[in-house]
Amino acid sequence: MKGIVLAGGSGTRLYPLTKATSKQLLPVYDKPMVYYPLSVLMLAGIREILIISNPENVPQLRALLGDGSRLGLELTYAEQAEPRGIAEALVIGADHINGEPSALILGDNIFHGAGFQGILREAQTGLDGCVLFGYPVSDPERYGIAETDTDGNLLSIEEKPLRPRSNNALTGLYFYDAEAVEIARDLAPSARGELEITDVNKHYLKNGRAKLVRLSRGFTWLDAGTHDSLLAASQYVHVLEQRQGVRVACLEEIALNMGYIDEEQCHRLGVEMKNSEYGQYLMQVAQ
Ligand code: TTP
Repeated sequence: MKGIVLAGGSGTRLYPLTKATSKQLLPVYDKPMVYYPLSVLMLAGIREILIISNPENVPQLRALLGDGSRLGLELTYAEQAEPRGIAEALVIGADHINGEPSALILGDNIFHGAGFQGILREAQTGLDGCVLFGYPVSDPERYGIAETDTDGNLLSIEEKPLRPRSNNALTGLYFYDAEAVEIARDLAPSARGELEITDVNKHYLKNGRAKLVRLSRGFTWLDAGTHDSLLAASQYVHVLEQRQGVRVACLEEIALNMGYIDEEQCHRLGVEMKNSEYGQYLMQVAQ
């Protein structure tokens, strides 16, 4: 399975923070935001990952993450000239996907919870169509909302419904079979001129090939697209890390646990950042 992190967009809700940089490079407590979605793909066992961003931000992301080899990954980069919709990631990423199934994640989505690796693995098994991930929210009228039958088959998807049929919000993580690229290529732009990911999902839904994995309320899903949600995300990570002494979305630690790098490499990466607590944590984890 190939991975894509869509880390472009204009970030206007975060102005002036994002006037001169990418939203995905802003800190969520102790690490850049893009670490969080990247950690999800790594936990899913995906090592070939395309990072898509605005032309002006690709060099910054590349400076941060490089070719990924230090983490045992293969990272490549592509530009999205304008934020023309989430589904455009599948078109831009067509060569990268190369006829395989793919996992697409939005660069400002943060997932955290026990058993996530197992959930991600199971969602890939026998993937036929698409698998979307739903999360219960208190304000469903602000989200894309999914209605399902008892087997998790999707019955409907509604964007920001006035009268929501459920409180299951669709998160920014999508698993697709190989057909998604063709579906995205055939889409007509919406009224706002974007290739809408909801149209890809509705295509699968129409053919009865869309599933929803419901993330339980014990799980955490945050997006960090506004000043308040960015601060809340930082506070969440801070509280957890201080309380438990373990780090959320620590890419080097995940790479070590997944067997992508060995202890020596993890230690080396820690030494490079030894003045920060993050670096010291890596040295400790490596032992
Ligand atoms: P949004 O939060 O919908 O848009 P945005 O990031 O441009 O922010 P704002 O609404 O404040 O102007 O995007 C969700 C995520 O998807 C975010 O990580 C950016 C990414 N994205 C792209 O990379 N390209 C796109 O064309 C779109 C629509 C989103």
